[in-house]
This record gives sequence, structure tokens and C-alpha cells, in this order.
Amino acid sequence: MFLFNNVTFTTTVVSIIPCIFWTKSLASQPHILLLLVDDLGWSDVGYHGSQIKTPNVDRLAREGVILENYYVQQYCTPTRGSLMTGRYPIHTGLQHRAILSLTPFGLPLEFSILPEKLKEVGYKTHLVGKWHLGHYTSVSTPTHRGFDSFFGFYNYGHDHFNHTHDGFLDLFEGEKVARGYKGQYTSHLYVQEVERIVEEHNSSKPLFLYMAFENVHDPIQAPEKYLNKYSFIKDRDRRTYAAMMDVVDEAIGNITQAFREKGLWNDTLVIFSSDNGGDPFYRGFNYPLRGYKKTLWEGGVKACGFVHGQMLKRKGVISRDLIHVTDWYPTLVNLAGATLDSNPMPVDGFDVWETISSGTPSPRTELLHNIDFPEKRPGLLLTYDTWYSGAAIRVGDMKLLMHVPNATWYQVPEEGGIAPDMEEIWDQKTNIVELALYNITADPTERYDVSHKYPNIVRHLKDRIHEHWKTAVPPGIVPDDIMALAVAIKNKAWVSWRDTCNAK
Ligand SMILES: *[C@@H]1O[C@H](CO)[C@@H](O)[C@H](O)[C@H]1NC(C)=O
Ligand SMILES: *[C@@H]1O[C@H](CO)[C@@H](O)[C@H](O)[C@H]1NC(C)=O
Ligand SMILES: *[C@@H]1O[C@H](CO)[C@@H](O)[C@H](O)[C@H]1NC(C)=O
Ligand SMILES: *[C@@H]1O[C@H](CO)[C@@H](O)[C@H](O)[C@H]1NC(C)=O
Ligand SMILES: *[C@@H]1O[C@H](CO)[C@@H](O)[C@H](O)[C@H]1NC(C)=O
Ligand SMILES: *[C@@H]1O[C@H](CO)[C@@H](O)[C@H](O)[C@H]1NC(C)=O
Repeated sequence: MFLFNNVTFTTTVVSIIPCIFWTKSLASQPHILLLLVDDLGWSDVGYHGSQIKTPNVDRLAREGVILENYYVQQYCTPTRGSLMTGRYPIHTGLQHRAILSLTPFGLPLEFSILPEKLKEVGYKTHLVGKWHLGHYTSVSTPTHRGFDSFFGFYNYGHDHFNHTHDGFLDLFEGEKVARGYKGQYTSHLYVQEVERIVEEHNSSKPLFLYMAFENVHDPIQAPEKYLNKYSFIKDRDRRTYAAMMDVVDEAIGNITQAFREKGLWNDTLVIFSSDNGGDPFYRGFNYPLRGYKKTLWEGGVKACGFVHGQMLKRKGVISRDLIHVTDWYPTLVNLAGATLDSNPMPVDGFDVWETISSGTPSPRTELLHNIDFPEKRPGLLLTYDTWYSGAAIRVGDMKLLMHVPNATWYQVPEEGGIAPDMEEIWDQKTNIVELALYNITADPTERYDVSHKYPNIVRHLKDRIHEHWKTAVPPGIVPDDIMALAVAIKNKAWVSWRDTCNAK
């Protein structure tokens, strides 16, 4: 106690520790390949029994540790924010909605995000694909946030062939608008970029490659040649979605091949994850789970995930330990030998390396899915604002949901299901379930509300939500900024708009 009150002492320790770790762990720093698939449904991978063929994904999953009790956030931006910071969305201000083209709010700059941490201990860091954590000023874009290179897009999605989003180009190399790629399917472009990065990488340095696929996010588009395999699927959009996932699988095959050819593969730790559940309107399915993207039901937040790498002490196993997307940050920061800090607030994630690698019980016994209740908000100009997720928390087996849309179950079309239309989703959204309790271990598909049976558990979980709520920062909702559009018109691209050089 005395020593830690001594300011001089602590300052010295803090400045020395990174060097010690750096020298000590250099030899064992793994290359990290983070594969994030956009809007991938729970039931849309081969290893979960899908008719969509994903042999490369399945092989990696089966050779590694499959995470079958693994959670992300309900949609893109909050998940990406938690992945980069190890904090819950209530602590990043991203609990409410995705960053849209005109939104002057991004991941707060106070956080030292994952690539920044890895860079501190010698990693080369690259982002290929989707950013979606803010681009209103250039300092919020990837190459100012710890990535040595960036090739991809800023917003939630764009046309897969012409790369426009709401009428303007959204494809960048660093901060430079990437023109001249029209007609090329983005996943192919991204794989070429990954191959270039791997080929040019100096093997003596650890590599962090964050491949954030645009697939299988809408618009539902795939090159014609990938469709033939799925002619047995009658629903045209579902057929195209299957082809989009086929591309992802082929891409992962090509990427792993590039790592092998460069001699990096044996020292590479692969993490595969979806960013949220599938959206059945856009033909992503989570059956038998209940609900979908944007909801806190299992179908929205329980994700496909696995880890692969020779450094795993056990392989070819399924882990049923509770793991959340916030856990990657402390896990990877520790593995790389970097140091965690509590600025601007403590990390919510747990280091789950021993759980995954050795099978020791997860340090995580509780998981806050989100807290986001409707309240009066500043005026929004162009975007409608109805996607309040409500709140949900998991403690052990039990999950409490509060004020959530009454989402249902959707079976995949090729197994006889029917994709919902917007009206149907809207009806569920306006039909609110005020409170429900499920034993997720016994009832993973959320069919039996047991809140009346266990009033004490309900009370306890409600208290936990309120405890967390006290620590929440306000959601980063500010009025849309019409200047974003003016600058996009001028540049014919969604560039950062608060920088005078772009705006002039
Ligand atoms: C890009 O494709 C979309 C359809 O997804 C279309 O509406 C738009 O006009 C196209 N833009 C350009 C510049 O080709
Ligand atoms: C790779 O990095 C090492 C260590 O920094 C350096 O000595 C070597 O010259 C680099 N190789 C190339 C080809 O740049
Ligand atoms: C994978 O590599 C093959 C062979 O080079 C190529 O034809 C294919 O287009 C690549 N696929 C993707 C998704 O990059
Ligand atoms: C990678 O590991 C495999 C299996 O242990 C081994 O056969 C191969 O030689 C290793 N490759 C490299 C480049 O070290
Ligand atoms: C939710 O919707 C189902 C129909 O899909 C209905 O049976 C159930 O009563 C609804 N629950 C609530 C709490 O409204
Ligand atoms: C939840 O289900 C598990 C597995 O069936 C069981 O062990 C546990 O006792 C249940 N918890 C409650 C509170 O019913």
C-alpha cells in the first residue's frame, strides 16, 4: 500500500514495464488474424449444419476451439467499438445506434484502441474492409487510430460492385478516396489487399491483420459464378446470400494460403467472429435461436465464433464457456505483451486465453448485453430513430430482458422457412415485451419465460442492470450534420467532413 502511494515509484514502474514485456515476449508474440464477418447468421455456417458450403471455415473451426457460448453486440457499430476497446457499449457511448453517413459521432478518441496497443509492442497493424467507427474528422479514421494501413470503407455498407453508399463513393486507401475499382466485387479486392500485405510483411515483426468483411451485409449481391452451386435454393435473395457466404469461405481459404506461403501460418492466431446475428429480411438466419440483428434475443447477440492456432494448448474442442466480444481486447493485449490501462474507464472484458487454450473455467460469470431505453433525444434530421434495443443481462444460466421488441423465430428458406417482410418486423418492434426471464442453458431458444417462477432472480438481475446503468455514459447521439452531405457532394465520396481541406 505504502509503495503504491508513492507517486515517483509508480511512475517509474509504469514506464519500465512495457519495455520488459516487449523484450521478454517478442519471441512468442503471435501474428493475429482477426476475421470479422458482417451480419453472419448463427445457422449460416457449415459447422452449424447449414446447406451453405463453408469447408474452409469448418476445417479451421474443427481444428481449433469452437466457441458455442460466445456473444457480440446487437449490431455493427457497438460490436466494433467493444472489439476495439474491451468496453461495453454503455461505456463507449455506442449503446444506441449505428454510425450513419451524417453522424458526427465516432468511437471516442480517449480510448487507446487495440491496434494502438499492439503497435506499442512492435506489431504491424492493418485494417482491410469495414471501419464503421466514425469518420467525421480525419483523426477518427483508421490510419490515425493505430492502423499502419487501411483499405476499405467507413459506413455500414455499400454497393459490392460500384462501392457507393447513399449515392457517393465509400472506398478508401488510408484517407485517400480509392477510385478506379468500379465493377470489382469488394471481397475480391479485399483478399488481393490482404495478399499484398502478407507478401510485403517483414516476417521478423508480429502482424495484426483485421479483415472486416463487407459480406454478408446487404445489399444482397454476389458474382454470378458463385450462384450456380445454390440453384436448389428457391428464394432468390437467399440464394445470393448463400453465394456471398461462399465467397467469404473462398476468401478465407485464399488468406490462409497467403499466410502459409509466407511462412507465417504456424505462428498465427486466428479469431473468427460474426459482428451480430443475421437479419432475416436480408436473408441471414439464426434458427433455432430467437430474434435477429438489432435485438438482444439470442439470435441477435449469440455469434458464430472460433479460435485457431498452433499455440492453443487444446485443439478440436468445443468451448461452452461464456465469452463476450469485449474479452478479445484484454486477451490479445496480454498475449502481445502490451499493457492494459483504465483510461478513460476500466476494461469490461476478461482475459479468456486460459479458458480457450486450456479449458479453465471462464472468469466471466456475468454479461451485460446492453442498456438502451427510449428517452427524449436531440432532434435527428434524416435518420429515423426507433431502434432502441431495451436492456438484457446474463448471470450464469439466467438472462433477463427488459423492454425488448417481441421478436420471433425464423427457419431458413431452404428448410421450409419464409423470410419476413418489413411490415412483419415492424409489428414485432412495436409489440414490446416489458420483462422476461430465460434459463439459457436449459432453454437456449428462449421459449419459456420463467420470470413468474423466479421473482428473486428477476429482482437480482434488475439490480445488476441498475448497477451497470449508474456507470453508463450518455449515448453518443447528436443531430445529423448536413455538412457531411455537402462535403460528399463536392468530393463525390463520403470523406471526413469536418476537416477544412476536404470541406473547402
Ligand atoms: C451503384 O449501384 C447502385 C445499386 O446498388 C445504383 O443505384 C447506383 O446508381 C450505382 N452507382 C454508380 C455510380 O454506378
Ligand atoms: C526486417 O526487420 C528487421 C528487424 O527490424 C530488420 O533488421 C530487417 O532489415 C528487415 N528486413 C527487411 C527486408 O526490411
Ligand atoms: C481465391 O483465389 C483464386 C485463385 O487465385 C481466385 O480465382 C479467387 O477469385 C479468389 N477468391 C477470392 C474471394 O478472393
Ligand atoms: C508448420 O507446422 C507443421 C506441423 O507442425 C510443420 O510440418 C511445418 O513444417 C511447419 N512450417 C513451418 C514453416 O514452420
Ligand atoms: C409475442 O408474440 C407472440 C406471437 O408471435 C405472442 O404469442 C406473444 O403473446 C407475444 N408476447 C408478448 C409479451 O406480447
Ligand atoms: C437452469 O438450467 C440448468 C441446466 O438445465 C440447471 O442446471 C439450472 O439449475 C437451471 N437454473 C434454474 C434457476 O432453474
